[in-house]
Order: sequence, then C-alpha cells, then structure tokens
Amino acid sequence: MPSLNWIGKEKIVNHDKDVPFRLLKKHKALSLGTSENLIIEGDNLEALKALMPYYVGKVKCIYIDPPYNTGNEGWVYNDNVNSPKIKQWIGKVVGSEGEDLTRHDKWLCMMYPRLKLLRDLLSDDGVIFVSIDDNEHCHLKMIMDEIFGESNFIGTFTVNTTPNARDYGHIGKMHDFCIFYAKNITQTQTNLLEDKEKIFKYSDKIGGFNIHPLYNSNVAFTNENRPNLYYPFYLNKNKPIKGFGENFFEISLIKEKGFIEIFPPKSVKDNIQFVWRWGKPKSLTELNKEIVGYCTGDNEYRIVQKMRTSEKLIRSILSEKEYTSRRGTAILEEIFGIKTFSFPKPVELIKAFLKVATNDDSIVLDSFAGSGTTGHAVLELNKEDKGNRKFILVEIEKDIAQKITSERVRRVSKNLNGSFEYCTLGNKLFGAKGAIDEEVSFTDLANYIYFTETQTNLEKKQISGNFVGEHNKNDFYLLFKEKGKNTLTKSFLKNITKNDHKKVIYADFCTIPDDILEAYNITFKQIPYEVKVY
Ligand SMILES: C[S@@+](CC[C@H](N)C(=O)[O-])C[C@H]1O[C@@H](n2cnc3c(N)ncnc32)[C@H](O)[C@@H]1O
Repeated sequence: MPSLNWIGKEKIVNHDKDVPFRLLKKHKALSLGTSENLIIEGDNLEALKALMPYYVGKVKCIYIDPPYNTGNEGWVYNDNVNSPKIKQWIGKVVGSEGEDLTRHDKWLCMMYPRLKLLRDLLSDDGVIFVSIDDNEHCHLKMIMDEIFGESNFIGTFTVNTTPNARDYGHIGKMHDFCIFYAKNITQTQTNLLEDKEKIFKYSDKIGGFNIHPLYNSNVAFTNENRPNLYYPFYLNKNKPIKGFGENFFEISLIKEKGFIEIFPPKSVKDNIQFVWRWGKPKSLTELNKEIVGYCTGDNEYRIVQKMRTSEKLIRSILSEKEYTSRRGTAILEEIFGIKTFSFPKPVELIKAFLKVATNDDSIVLDSFAGSGTTGHAVLELNKEDKGNRKFILVEIEKDIAQKITSERVRRVSKNLNGSFEYCTLGNKLFGAKGAIDEEVSFTDLANYIYFTETQTNLEKKQISGNFVGEHNKNDFYLLFKEKGKNTLTKSFLKNITKNDHKKVIYADFCTIPDDILEAYNITFKQIPYEVKVY
C-alpha cells in the first residue's frame, strides 16, 4: 500500500502514546442536569486521552468535521492549523522544524495522533465519518488508510453543500466530501434509510411491501465465520401462496417430502458462500409471514423478506436540500436569532449518518464540535425513535464551547428533553517526576489501572472496597487511601477472594514475603513506578 510522507511525520506517528492523561473536571454551573452526555472544553488530543480509561472500545459512531485547512483566517474559529493553540502544540511536539512546515504538513501533524486515538475509542463494530473538502481530501484518505486499514474504507459521500455553486475560479464548487471507515469491516452492520419515494410492488393483509433477498451480500460473512447463519429452507414448488400470482411460495425449516432445499447463494464474482441475515430462531417466528419463497423470472427459487418500510441504502451522493450549508446556517440562526458560527453542518446530514451507523443506545463522539450540531442531531433522533444515544462533544475554543456549543444544546434541550455535563481538562494524572497528582481519587486511579492492564473499561459496579475488577481470570486490587502510606501486609490477604485467578495488587509498599505472594498467586505492583503508561 502506498503511504504518505510529510515533514514532521516521524515525530508524530506515535505521539498519541506520549499525550498525558488528564482528569476530566465537571462544572455543575455550566452543565444541564446530570447526564452521560458530555461537552468537553479543551484540545481534543488531551480530551480523547482523558476519555480513554472510560470509553476505549465503546464508541459506536464518530462524526468529525475538522478544519478543512482552507487558509481562511477570517472565521469565528481558525480554519487552518495556524490557530495559536495548535501552532504552539506543533512547536512543542515537532520542535523547531515545526516553524518551517507547510500548511499541509501542519494539518497532517495535527490530525494523525487524533485519528489514532479516535480509532482506539471506537468499538469493534464502530464507524467514523470525516467531513473534508478538496484542500485535504487526498491527504486525509491516505492517512485514514494507514490508521484504519485500506480494507476498512466503506466509501466517500459527496455532499451537495452549495447548490448554487461558489466561484472558485474555473469551477463553480457545489460540494464537499465525507469519508466513511469502519474500525473492522467484518463486524460492521449498518442500517437502511427511509425511502420517501418508494412505491410498493406487492401487498398483503398487512399492507404494501417490496421484497429483499434474505441472504447477506457482504462477503465478509461466510458459512465459516457465521455457521449459525448458514442453514437450508425447504420450499414446496406446488404450493404457491394464494393471492400473489404464481411467484410466492410457502417455506419450511423442516424437510418435507417433495420440498426442494434452498441455501443462500454464492457470490458471482468470487464464488464466496453467502449466509442468511437472520439466524434460525428469528426465521422460524417470521416463516411464511415476513419471509417467503420467491421464484425469479429465471426459474430460480429464493428466500425473500417482505420490506414494508420503504428503506434504501444511504446514497453516496447526498443532494437533498436538507443537507446544504444554507440549511445548517438557517437552523443555527433560528436557535440564536443571529449569526454565531460559520458553516455549521445541517442537523439532517448528521442524523442521516447516525441512522445508518447507530443503535438506539449508541455512544456518539464528535471531537471537533463547533456549534454542537452532532449533539443536537443525537437529541433530535432520540426524540424521533425513542432512542437513548449519548453524545460526547469536544471543542477547543472556550468561547465557542461555552457560548455556542453548550448554549445550543441547552436551548434545543428544552424541546428535546436533553441534558449534558460540561467538563474541562483538569490536572495530569502524573506529575513531571511521575508522582500521582493530589487530586487523583481512588476511582480515577482504579479506572486508569484497569484500563492500562486490560485495554478495556471498568464497569463501575465491579469496584468493591479495594477490589477494582476482574478480567480474563486476573483480579486487580488497589490500596490507595492516604497517598504514600498504603502498605500491602499479611492482614490484607483475608480481603482477597479465594479463587484460581491471578491477583495483581497495587500499593505503595509491600511487607509480604515473596514465597507467600507466590503461594497466593499475587503480583505486587508499586505505585507509582509500576503503574503502566498507555
Ligand atoms: C469545522 S468546525 C466544526 C463545525 C461543526 N461540525 C458544526 O456543525 O458546527 C471545527 C471546530 O473544531 C474546533 N477545533 C479545531 N481544532 C480543535 C482541537 N484540536 N480540539 C477540539 N476542537 C477543535 C474549532 O474550534 C471549530 O469549532
């Protein structure tokens, strides 16, 4: 796979690992109730790292709309990487070389570590959408291939943002892009969108429907990796279902005399065995109701699902009026009464992405939040489908975060029953000499230790006394009451659950002899020296 090189790349490729962990500080007065929705004011690099111990592998959908790097300084936010905060950050990380980098080098240096952290936060079945335009589209695609893997690229949307076209010299530009990747394409399931123009071809007692094959045409799912989705149906060619002409037939999951066997077909291109979209139990409940046999014009027999809702795959060209920039601006002006932010995305666009990529309890993250469109879209969609999605928004500029992002979410929450907690980035977990910060609580450190040990998140309910949690037959304990005075002594052994698990105990000191530690299957780890850095 070709890869992209730029000045500063080698300094940045693993920079995500060096970003310090900070505590998230909640601010009641800036929040709206108590909530799992978060609005974080701060640089997303540190904010994403701060989220890691709580959200690694948990975020189902990321939408970001990073600066397009147009070089346009006149906007409310700096749309290039010459923003003072980012400039300072690049100077620190890339060193004196940072001064000489071109606009594209800087943008790539800014994006790369952030995309790496975003990838880590995604769940295995998660996806990411990134809006972009011609300025950085090609560069973005190259680094996304590098970070997410070429095979996880799902596609690029072309969004008709400006139907009347904007004069760019030689060309009247009407669009921007949104590129769409999975964390792991073999785990990704997406949803269809409502098709407002659909006409039904058939109808039954319940109403109109069209038909859709029951097999899954994604070659990533085969009889080998999804054996439960590979089984035969049986069809009686002599039993057409009455009232539908000769094309629809009764089916069964039990072999009966005179019935023919129907398996999912193979892919025409590679002869890969497809599987059904449904397992046997679901097929059984819907048999001859929502799934039936169907004879194609070529005398081939198929199992089909009746599609009653008019749905379609999201299209790669999004040209509807509701997706235009003008619409985004109008919605924001309706909320504030004045123009507050340039080029906010239209809510319907983000809602379309959320419909495709989320379930009703998914966590949605936008780390370039701007006017908070993503938070607005989550609340609106939740209201529409009674969902319980949560959002996490990050915005670097204090003024935008307080006066626009959170203010917008606050205002729309009145009708959408929303809430959020407003956070800033607090102290670093560890000081310059590696000491744990005074403000770090037992729960903070427990979460951090569990995360660095397991690369997964701690379920709050697992914590009990000094017991932090269990993972793959490893039990983790933390002694952390009075800092610097926590000693693992023999008397602590009575607190340990007797089982065959390995025990990892963090404390400042240990007075238990090695042979007893071994007998109890205990590994002692000294705070702070043996607290791993992620
Ligand atoms: C293109 S705007 C996003 C607009 C947003 N999609 C909307 O609909 O309003 C990009 C936003 O990202 C913010 N931003 C830029 N760099 C950032 C960083 N490192 N961390 C967090 N936010 C950042 C900018 O201040 C700006 O508000």
